[in-house]
Amino acid sequence: MDASATVLGLESSCDETAAAVLRADGTILAEAVLSQLEEHAAFGGVVPEIAARAHLEHLPGLAARVMAEAGLGFGDLAGIAATSGPGLIGGLIVGASLGKGLAIAHGLPFVAVNHLEAHALTATLPGLVEGGVRFPYLLLLLSGGHCQCVAVEGVGQYRRLGTTLDDAVGEAFDKSAKLLGLPWPGGPALERLAAGGDPGRFTLPRPLLGRAGCDFSFSGLKTAVAHAVAKHPPGALPAQDRADLAAGFQAAVAAVLADRARHALDMLPGATALVVAGGVAANAAIRASLGRVAGERGLALVAPPIRLCTDNAVMVAWAGIERLRRGLADPLGHAPRPRWPLDQLTA
Ligand code: KG4
Ligand code: ZN
Repeated sequence: MDASATVLGLESSCDETAAAVLRADGTILAEAVLSQLEEHAAFGGVVPEIAARAHLEHLPGLAARVMAEAGLGFGDLAGIAATSGPGLIGGLIVGASLGKGLAIAHGLPFVAVNHLEAHALTATLPGLVEGGVRFPYLLLLLSGGHCQCVAVEGVGQYRRLGTTLDDAVGEAFDKSAKLLGLPWPGGPALERLAAGGDPGRFTLPRPLLGRAGCDFSFSGLKTAVAHAVAKHPPGALPAQDRADLAAGFQAAVAAVLADRARHALDMLPGATALVVAGGVAANAAIRASLGRVAGERGLALVAPPIRLCTDNAVMVAWAGIERLRRGLADPLGHAPRPRWPLDQLTA
C-alpha cells in the first residue's frame, strides 16, 4: 500500500459517532466525533436503541463532512474501515452497513475492524510516540465497557492475559459516582470530587490485590462505597465524606490497577512498553500510578492523547490501513459481532 493511500474509518459501536480520513503514513487528514452524552444522560447510561438511531441520523453526514475536509471524493480512497464488533449491535449494523454500501458503490475494499484491535494498535500510529512503539507491548484497555490486559504481539496477534470478573473499571467509576450523587458519566466528576478528599479516611477493599494473574474485580469496591453511603439518610452524606469516599475509591482503583499491571508485565517479560487506552486512562491518579509501575521496569508508559484514547474513528482507519497493507480485506458478507474477543483475530 502506497504511503499516500487514504482510508475512511467509521466508528459506531457505543455512544460515539465518529468518522476520520487517514493516510497510510499516519497523517490525519480529517477527524470528527459526535458524542451522544446528552441523549443518554437522562437515563444514567447508554440506551442501545437511542444510540443506534443517533448513529443512523449522524454517521452518513459525518462521513461526507470528513471527506470534504480531506478534500477527497470516495473514489479517491484505498478502502473503507468500519468497526464491526464488539459493541452494541444496532450501532455496529449502522456503521458496517454504511461502510459496505460505500465500498460497493465505489468499488473499494472493506475492512471489518475489531474495536479492541483499533484501541490496541493506536499506540503504533506514526508520530504519536517519539521513537514509536515496538511489538510486543502490554496494553491495559480501561474503558466503560472493557477492562483487559492484552499482550499485543503484532497486527492480528493478541493474547488476553486478564480481564474483569465483573464490572469494567469505567463502569465501577460510573456506578460509584452515581452513589455519590454525581452525574453520568461519573469518571471525570469523581476525579474532580476526589481532588478535595482524603484517600486514607475510608478503608476500602482492594479486590484481587496480590492474587496470581492479572484479572480484575471491581464490584466489591463499588459495594463498599454503597455501604458507606447507606450509613446516612438518602442525600445526607456530608460533603467532606463524599470527597473522602471519592478519593478513597480512586486510590483503591489506582492501587489495584498498578498491582494487576505488575503481574501482567511478569506474564509478558519481553514487553517494550506499557500502553494504556480507554476513557479511564484520562485519570491523572491512575496514569501516575501506572507510570510508576512502568518506571520500576525501565519501561515507558505510553498513553495516546485523550481524544485517541476514547472512542474515535482515527484508530479504526489505522487498524484498517494495517490490515489492508497485509491484504486482509473482509468479504461484504461479514456480519457485525456484538461479542468478538481479540484472541479470535488472525493476520
Ligand atoms: O473509552 P470510553 O470513552 O468509552 C467506552 O467505554 O468505550 O470510556 C468511558 C469511560 C466511562 O466509564 C467514564 O466514566 C470513564 O471512561 N472516564 C474516567 C475519566 N474520564 C472518563 N474515569 C476516571 N477518571 C476520568 N478522568
Ligand atoms: Zn472503546
